[in-house]
Amino acid sequence: MDWSVPPALEAEIDALVARYPVKRSASLMVLHALQAHFGWLSQEAIEWTARKLGLQPIHIYELVTFYPMFRQEPCGRWQIKICRTLSCMLAGSHELHRRLCERLGLDPHRHGPQTTADGRFTVEFVECLASCHTAPVLMVNDDLWERVGPEQVESWLAHPEFAPPKPEAKS
Ligand code: FES
Repeated sequence: MDWSVPPALEAEIDALVARYPVKRSASLMVLHALQAHFGWLSQEAIEWTARKLGLQPIHIYELVTFYPMFRQEPCGRWQIKICRTLSCMLAGSHELHRRLCERLGLDPHRHGPQTTADGRFTVEFVECLASCHTAPVLMVNDDLWERVGPEQVESWLAHPEFAPPKPEAKS
């Protein structure tokens, strides 16, 4: 199937690029826009971005491979990133990851991204999500969940289309 950027998205990207005196400075913003639309960054997306900014594909490829928020393969409708760094680990994030993987039929020993066979969920461990004081934390797509317990995740998995349950704030 031919890969193409819809005209509306290209117009949005052109407007983004126009904000920068040097086109190359818009690289990350363009990649974010493409990933938000397609869900991941294919080789075609990398090459298209390079052409758009007057760069070589390697200049874009090195960004995509350096920053962990960029994806080079399709992922699930729901992307679950669990923090594995110290505060969250001590607060139970590894147990959370294990239970989540087992519940979804994924390998609990694998830390990298893995997607369920039905393409609905992608689960992965990530480094610090910058909310150590509310450990354990995870992200579901763009939402940060704080002080997450396994029961919360369990109840959300039954109806992921609903907003994530918000835990009670603790002082
Ligand atoms: S250690 Fe998990 S958010 Fe910082």
